[in-house]
Amino acid sequence: MQLNWKLALALLAVLCLQLAQGSELNWDAASGPEMGLQMAAHLAPSTPKDVQETAAMAVISRVIGERSSQLFKVQVNKNMDLRSFQISMLDDGRILLMGWDGVSVCKALHHYLKYVLNKDVDWFKMRIELPTNLQLPNVTIESKSASPIIYHQNVCTWSYSFAWWGIEQWRRHLDWMALMGISLTIAPVQEAIWVKVYTDMGLRMEEIDEHLAGPAFQAWQRMGNIRGWAGPLTPAWRRYQLLLQQEIITAQRNLGMSVALPAFAGHVPRALKRLNPESTFMEVQRWNQFPDRYCCGLFVEPTENLFKEIASRFLHNIITKYGSNHIFFCDPFNELEPPVAKPEYMRSTAAAIYESMRGIDPQAIWLLQGWMFVKNPFWTTDMAEAFLTAAPRGRILVLDLQSEQFPQYELTRSYFGQPFIWCMLHNFGGTLGMFGSAKLINSGIEEARRLPNSSLVGTGITPEGIGQNYVMYSFTLERGWSNTSLDLDSWFTNFSHSRYGVKDERLEQAWLLLKNSVYSFRGLQKMRGQYVVTRRPSFNQEPFTWYNASAVLDAWHLLLTFRAIIPLEDNRYEIYEHDLVDITRQFLQISADQLYINLRSAYRKRQVSRFEFLSVKLLKLFDDMELILASSRNFLLGNWLQQAKQAAPNTGQQRNFEFNARNQITAWGPDGQILDYACKQWSGLVSDYYRPRWRLFLEDVTVALHAGRPFNGTAFKLKVSHEIELPFSNKDDVYPVTPVGNTWLISQDIFETWKGYSKDTLFLHNNRLSVPQKAGPK
Ligand SMILES: *[C@@H]1O[C@H](CO)[C@@H](O)[C@H](O)[C@H]1NC(C)=O
Ligand SMILES: *[C@@H]1O[C@H](CO)[C@@H](O)[C@H](O)[C@H]1NC(C)=O
Ligand SMILES: *[C@@H]1O[C@H](CO)[C@@H](O)[C@H](O)[C@H]1NC(C)=O
Ligand SMILES: *[C@@H]1O[C@H](CO)[C@@H](O)[C@H](O)[C@H]1NC(C)=O
Ligand SMILES: *[C@@H]1O[C@H](CO)[C@@H](O)[C@H](O)[C@H]1NC(C)=O
Ligand SMILES: *[C@@H]1O[C@H](CO)[C@@H](O)[C@H](O)[C@H]1NC(C)=O
Repeated sequence: MQLNWKLALALLAVLCLQLAQGSELNWDAASGPEMGLQMAAHLAPSTPKDVQETAAMAVISRVIGERSSQLFKVQVNKNMDLRSFQISMLDDGRILLMGWDGVSVCKALHHYLKYVLNKDVDWFKMRIELPTNLQLPNVTIESKSASPIIYHQNVCTWSYSFAWWGIEQWRRHLDWMALMGISLTIAPVQEAIWVKVYTDMGLRMEEIDEHLAGPAFQAWQRMGNIRGWAGPLTPAWRRYQLLLQQEIITAQRNLGMSVALPAFAGHVPRALKRLNPESTFMEVQRWNQFPDRYCCGLFVEPTENLFKEIASRFLHNIITKYGSNHIFFCDPFNELEPPVAKPEYMRSTAAAIYESMRGIDPQAIWLLQGWMFVKNPFWTTDMAEAFLTAAPRGRILVLDLQSEQFPQYELTRSYFGQPFIWCMLHNFGGTLGMFGSAKLINSGIEEARRLPNSSLVGTGITPEGIGQNYVMYSFTLERGWSNTSLDLDSWFTNFSHSRYGVKDERLEQAWLLLKNSVYSFRGLQKMRGQYVVTRRPSFNQEPFTWYNASAVLDAWHLLLTFRAIIPLEDNRYEIYEHDLVDITRQFLQISADQLYINLRSAYRKRQVSRFEFLSVKLLKLFDDMELILASSRNFLLGNWLQQAKQAAPNTGQQRNFEFNARNQITAWGPDGQILDYACKQWSGLVSDYYRPRWRLFLEDVTVALHAGRPFNGTAFKLKVSHEIELPFSNKDDVYPVTPVGNTWLISQDIFETWKGYSKDTLFLHNNRLSVPQKAGPK
C-alpha cells in the first residue's frame, strides 16, 4: 500500500516536472500561419482517438438519428493535416468521414449534409430526418481549413443567450459548434471557485454575496463592470453551474476542442481591503452610471504580492476543477479606464498578469479581448504596444473582437506580432433585426490574411447574443474555413437550397434580395437594436436604413407566394415559418421607422389630424407585430421567462430569476442604466412593454397638440420610466410558451395590410427614411 503511494507520488513528480518544463514554445520567428498551426496543435487536448471517434459518432446520432447514423463511419486520423477532413465511400456503401480530430469529422458530416444531401442545420433546427430508403451519394471530398484556429463565443453570450440553459440546450449547441468546425472556446463559469478562494482567504459570506451579481448579469461582474446587481447567487446555483460547466468542457474536449479558462484580472470584492489594509487597491471607474451599491469594485494592482497570491489560488482551483489546455482569458480593462496612463504601467501590468499564469502553467497563453482598444483614445500606439509586447511573442492571443466593423489589427500593426483571431461580433445584446455585412466579411478576412507580416492565426465569431441572423454566422464560419473569397451569390443561393431542402429559383431570389439589402451593411453606425419599435419614444431618434425597403417587401412576397414548394418532410416547413416570421417582423420594423419620421414631421408641423391618423397606424403595427411573433416558438417572451424560472434552484428563487430575466432585456440596471440595450422583438414584450410605451407617448403628444403647447419630453421620460419601464422587471405575469395561430395566414394578412401603406394620402409628405451614402469603414 505504502509502496503504491510512493510510486504514485513519484509519478506525479515526474508529471509535474514535465509540465513545468513543457515543450519549448519557439515560434518567435514563425510567420502568422505557421504560428497558428503550432499554436493550434499546442492547445489541442490530448483526447485519445477512440474517445474523439465515439464523441463524433454521438453527435452524428443526435443530428440524424440512430438509424441514419449507421450509414456513416468515422475515423480520427492524426496523420492528416491539422483541421482537415476527407469524405469517401466504403465498399459496403457507408460514407467514411475521416478527420484530424472529432471536430473535423463533424465538420465533414456538416459538409456532406449541406452540400451533398442539401439539408442544413440551424440553431433552431439541429435534428435532420433523412428518408428511410436513402441511397447516399458516393463522393470524394477533401477539405482543409485555412484557419488553424476557429473560435466561438463572447463572455457576454453566456449572459445574453446561455444564462438559463441546461445540458440539453448545451448538447444541441455543442453539436452545432462541432458541425461548424469550432476548435477554441471559453469556459467562464467561476463563481463557486471564487467563493472557495475568498472564504479561504477569510472573507465572510455576506461580503462575497454583495459582490457577485445575479444569474443574468454575471458576465459584467466577472469583467469588473458591476458588482452585486440582481444578486445574490445561492450556493445551489453556483454548484449547479460548476457541474454544468464541467460537463460542457468534457464534451468539448472529447471532440478535440480546446477550452480557455478564466484567469484573474484584478477585480475583487470591496471587502478584501478589510483583510489586506497594506495592499494597494484602486477603485474601478463607474460603468454606465451604476450607483455605488452596484459598481466600482476594487482592482488589485497586478504588480502587488496580493495579486500573485489571489491569481495563484484561483488558477490552482480552476485547473483542478476544469483541467487545462494551456490557455487562459482575462480582461483587466474591458470598458474600464486603466488607472495610470503610462506605457511603463501598461507593460508592468500586462507582464504581471501574464506571469501569474505562467507561474502556474509554464506553457500558458493569455487570450485577450481586443475590445479595449476599440475607439478608445486612451490606447495610443505606445500604450497598446507596451501592453501587448509585455509577454513573449505568441503568449498573448488577441481576439480582434469586431473585425467586420472596427478591426484593430491594422492600427496596432498586427498586434505588434502577437497572434490574433479575426472575429465577427455582429450582434450586441442579442437584439433582433435582420442585418449583416456579408461582403465586408468576405473581403475582410482576405485583407487580414494578406497583410504583410500578418499575425493572423484564426477566424471566429464573437456574438454577444445568438438566435438571430443565422445566415451571417454560417457564412462567416465557412468563409474562415475557406482559403479564398466565396462567391456571395453562389453561397446565398446554396444557402437557400440547404435551408429549405429544395432548389428553387424563387427562393434563391428571395435570399439574393436579402443578401443585397439587409446583409449588405457597410458603415460605422452602431447597430444595436436601435429601431423605433424597441427604443424609448421621443422625437430625438434618427432611424436610418442602408437598403431599399422594397427589397425586403419583394423577398417577403416571394416567400409567401411559394409556400407550396417547401417540403414538409424533415420539418423544413418549420424553418420556412421561422423565416416568414422574421421577415414579417423586419418589414414591420422598417415600417415603424418610416411611420415615425412622418409622425415627427406631423408633430413639428402641428398637423393634428395627420398625427392622429399615423398614431392609429403605429399602434396597429404593434398589434400586427405581436400577432406574427406569437405564432413562432422562437419569438416568445414566455420561453425566456419560463427557462429562467425553471433554472432557479428552488421556488423561493424563482422571483429573483424572473426579475433577472426581465430586467436584462428591458431596464438593464436598477434605473434603466443601459435601457433597452438587450431589447427583444418578442411576443409579450411587444404587447406589454413596447406598445404601451408608444401609446403613452402618442397620447401625451396628442394632448399637447390639441392644447397648442409643446410636448414635454422630460416629463414623459419620467412618466414612462416609472409607469412602464421599471415596473416591468418586477411583474410576474405568465406568457405563453407555445405558438398561437397560423404563421402563413397571419403573415399573408399583414402583407396585404402593409404592402401599400405608404400610399395612404395622409401618410407621406415625402418624409422618407434616409438611406445614408456613408462609405464603409475605410
Ligand atoms: C465511389 O466512387 C469512386 C470514384 O468514382 C470509385 O472509385 C469507388 O469505387 C466508388 N465506391 C463505391 C462503393 O461505389
Ligand atoms: C515584415 O517583417 C520583416 C522582417 O521582420 C521586416 O523587414 C518588414 O519591414 C516587415 N514589413 C512590414 C510591412 O511591417
Ligand atoms: C487553397 O486551396 C486550394 C484548393 O484546395 C489549393 O490549391 C491552394 O493551394 C490553397 N491555397 C493556399 C494559400 O492554401
Ligand atoms: C454552391 O454549391 C455548388 C454545388 O455544390 C458548389 O459547386 C459551389 O462551390 C457552392 N458555392 C459556394 C460559394 O460554396
Ligand atoms: C427601391 O426599389 C424600388 C423597386 O425596385 C424602386 O422602384 C425604387 O425607386 C427604389 N427606391 C429607392 C429610394 O431607391
Ligand atoms: C417639463 O417637465 C419637467 C419634469 O416634470 C419639469 O421640471 C419642467 O418644468 C417641464 N418643462 C416645461 C417647459 O414645462
